[in-house]
Amino acid sequence: MKDAVAKKFKRENGLDYKASQITVGTGGKQVLYNAFMATLNPGDEVIIPAPYWVSYPDMVMLAGGEPVELVCRMEDGFKLKPEALEKAITPKTKWLLLNSPSNPTGAAYTRAELKALTDVLVKHPHVHVMTDECMNTWSTTTSCSPRRRRSSRRFIRARSPSTAARRPIA
Ligand SMILES: Cc1ncc(COP(=O)(O)O)c(C=O)c1O
Repeated sequence: MKDAVAKKFKRENGLDYKASQITVGTGGKQVLYNAFMATLNPGDEVIIPAPYWVSYPDMVMLAGGEPVELVCRMEDGFKLKPEALEKAITPKTKWLLLNSPSNPTGAAYTRAELKALTDVLVKHPHVHVMTDECMNTWSTTTSCSPRRRRSSRRFIRARSPSTAARRPIA
């Protein structure tokens, strides 16, 4: 199954992963929660652009972390701006959690918008990126995965099994 997931990433996203780099859970929620439980220490901060999918802050708090909510304005298409990201990063920041396409706003980051965000992130290598792309195949907007920017930092991409059911992964 992990080989099939790796093939899917290659075929649909142009990304190279080995089966050993892939984990499979019972849903996006479980995978994200497991990742927080495995990585967050008390006081670690997780930047969450708002509006966000309802469960994110609670998952962070259950794992002992502190959610840092960054309100994204309607005028900006409910997308995180690089300047806001730069200002929010502290020595305690562990993760930036990106959800694109977004539930609830539908906002989907373009390659250029993600490049602007990763230009900030390359200056802060202690910040890892968790991307929730559960809604990717349901979107009619052209979106892009932040993982396309090569880096040694930790990336976690969540995909929902319901998405997989709609579109076979192998
Ligand atoms: C953005 C987002 N992430 C994760 C999930 C959870 O996905 P799953 O049902 O696979 O646990 C949902 C469910 O609605 C969602 O909207």
